[in-house]
Amino acid sequence: MKGVVIAGGLATRLFPLTHATNKHLLPVYDKPMIFYPIQTLVQAGIKDILIIVSGPHAGHFIPVLKNGTDFGINHLEFAYQEKPDGGIADALALAEDFADNRPIVAILGDNTTDAKISTVVKEFKDGAVVFLKKVPDPHRFGVPRFDKKDHKRIVEIMEKPKKASSPYAVTGVYIYDEKVFDYIRKCKPSARGQLEITDVNNLYIKNNKLKWSELKGYWLDAGTCDTLTLANLYWAKKRGSRFFKRIIKEIAWGF
Ligand code: DAU
Repeated sequence: MKGVVIAGGLATRLFPLTHATNKHLLPVYDKPMIFYPIQTLVQAGIKDILIIVSGPHAGHFIPVLKNGTDFGINHLEFAYQEKPDGGIADALALAEDFADNRPIVAILGDNTTDAKISTVVKEFKDGAVVFLKKVPDPHRFGVPRFDKKDHKRIVEIMEKPKKASSPYAVTGVYIYDEKVFDYIRKCKPSARGQLEITDVNNLYIKNNKLKWSELKGYWLDAGTCDTLTLANLYWAKKRGSRFFKRIIKEIAWGF
């Protein structure tokens, strides 16, 4: 299967950091943010990857990722989203030729996880799969609502609802069959003027073609200053930073 990393957008939540470079190139401990979603794909055996970029620093990706061989990528392509805040589905629409009528795994460029998705990728047949994660603050994300009788069936996904109807976030990891591009064409811009990936997922639900799987591992959307800080701490610990004990001590002592 092919993979798409969606790394456009304006990243206004990270101004002024993103005045200098693209959000997805900011450090998450010892690596640029975009290395993490790329690794998730490569670990799942996906080595044919399209990166969707946009904005004034789109050119910064090339010297960092080069032709992808450092990551074990066989084939690396880039696409440019003309309207950087057109929405995640608007960005994904650019992958149609690349997908070539075959299923794709799409992952948001600011999502960092150490969960493995290879089994779900291998078992995928058709429709769509969303990966869910229990979080303390689901209202910040797409949130699934489950059927009252069949607790495993998602009946709707709500984008950043005021009150979350379940403790799950729809993470930015998705598998879609070739129909995704027709569904994107059916979507209309939301109140914030974007083509929402949640609307695309809801079309799969309407057609009874959306499945879900729980992401088993740590997952964090590193798109705000606070979650970027948290992501740095998690990965520092995970990579065995010798400084980590001191970090924890300093936090415990209130700096
Ligand atoms: O992280 C998971 C969440 O990501 C989901 O739960 C939500 O359903 C989904 O809408 C999305 O919400 P965010 O508010 O976090 O999306 P954000 O605008 O931060 O964009 C996520 C990534 O997509 C980011 O790395 C940049 C990229 N992007 C975003 C937009 C709006 C694009 O490439 N183009 C765009 O037009």
